[in-house]
Amino acid sequence: MVASVSKSLPAATARAKFAATRAEMSSALIERDDEIDLVLTALIAKEHVLLVGPPGCAKSLLLDSILKWAGGTKFAILLTKYTVPEEVVGPVSLAGLKEDRYLRITTGKLPEADFAYLDEVFKASSAILNTLLRLLNERTFDAGDGAAKKVPLKLCVGASNEWPSPETGKELAALFDRFTFRRTVRPILTQAGRKRLLWDRDHVPTLSTIIAPIEVEASHFEAMSLPWSPAATEALETVIRELAKEGVQPGDRRQVKAVAAARSYAWLHGAERVEPEHLEVLASVLWDDPVEQPGKCAQVIAKVANPTGMRVNQYLLEVEQILAGADVKNLAEAAKAAAKLAEIDKQLGSLTGNGRVEKARTYVKEQLKKLKLASLEAY
Ligand SMILES: Nc1ncnc2c1ncn2[C@@H]1O[C@H](COP(=O)(O)OP(=O)(O)OP(=O)(O)O)[C@@H](O)[C@H]1O
Ligand SMILES: [Mg+2]
Repeated sequence: MVASVSKSLPAATARAKFAATRAEMSSALIERDDEIDLVLTALIAKEHVLLVGPPGCAKSLLLDSILKWAGGTKFAILLTKYTVPEEVVGPVSLAGLKEDRYLRITTGKLPEADFAYLDEVFKASSAILNTLLRLLNERTFDAGDGAAKKVPLKLCVGASNEWPSPETGKELAALFDRFTFRRTVRPILTQAGRKRLLWDRDHVPTLSTIIAPIEVEASHFEAMSLPWSPAATEALETVIRELAKEGVQPGDRRQVKAVAAARSYAWLHGAERVEPEHLEVLASVLWDDPVEQPGKCAQVIAKVANPTGMRVNQYLLEVEQILAGADVKNLAEAAKAAAKLAEIDKQLGSLTGNGRVEKARTYVKEQLKKLKLASLEAY
């Protein structure tokens, strides 16, 4: 029997708002759909998220936009090795010191924030890393009076230009582990995307809604009660087994968090229960070492849980190769490329059971149209 999901009004309005934001963000940002979904999933799961990528690939634009959308107190900082704890958790109270009490004034700092954005997070000094570890993990902070109090933090988003290397200290590795969701952001891949980057007037998303803290809570609550389909349950167990065979053995805490992560992702996609295709998000969760494991993890998940999604991605890669290799001003070449694209569109049409298929087909049809126009103009 499928357990019914408790429906609440704030959760219903929140779901519509999440859907609107997904669409609005993805129409402004180029080739960032997966990253947008990941950060929104993290918000629903209330688990921290880290984006790693070269300078200028829209990490800040994406993270800032989503944090702006979320109502509540924000704290943002660009960390360097010179950043001192006062800048993150507040200065020590002088009045307190006069009375022999060591107390930090946390107003406007991380301990009072609902949402935090830590830019260049791995540049932080050892003293800051230690404070961050506790705050991010236990969500408590001791201002100096010996009592660790709960902080309101719902979500911390982090950004970095590089992954921490295996030689870096234990503290960095521990902080890295606090980010449940982690993803590499790549520069724009497609020709059409690059054209948009160069010639679109503005890339800043315009978001038509604001999500209130109570709505985020309601979303979290509803997502956490989503049931799993038997196929998804089996797929997760298989994924973990297959990953172990590949030498990828994420810790127990990560495995537990994966369950909540998949629920949040399914909820974001409007599903009433977790299906195998929703395990796709776990490619950002179920690994420890950023060097080889993310690729292996994505492959295992695609193979076990989402073969359709994997084929769609392969077809899209093929489309890019065809477009990059064709001289559209040469009529014969353009016709050959168009025939190949039409064939891919046909193949895509035979796939079912994945939301990406329709999107991919629309993209291929658009490219086909452009190809025909370009070759006509050349003629
Ligand atoms: N995929 C993209 N979609 C839309 N705009 C983009 C994209 N990539 C880059 N841009 C443009 O480049 C600008 C720079 O991006 P942003 O500052 O967010 O990069 P970043 O990844 O945070 O870089 P850094 O690592 O240096 O902080 C954006 O504000 C936007 O105008
Ligand atoms: Mg940035």
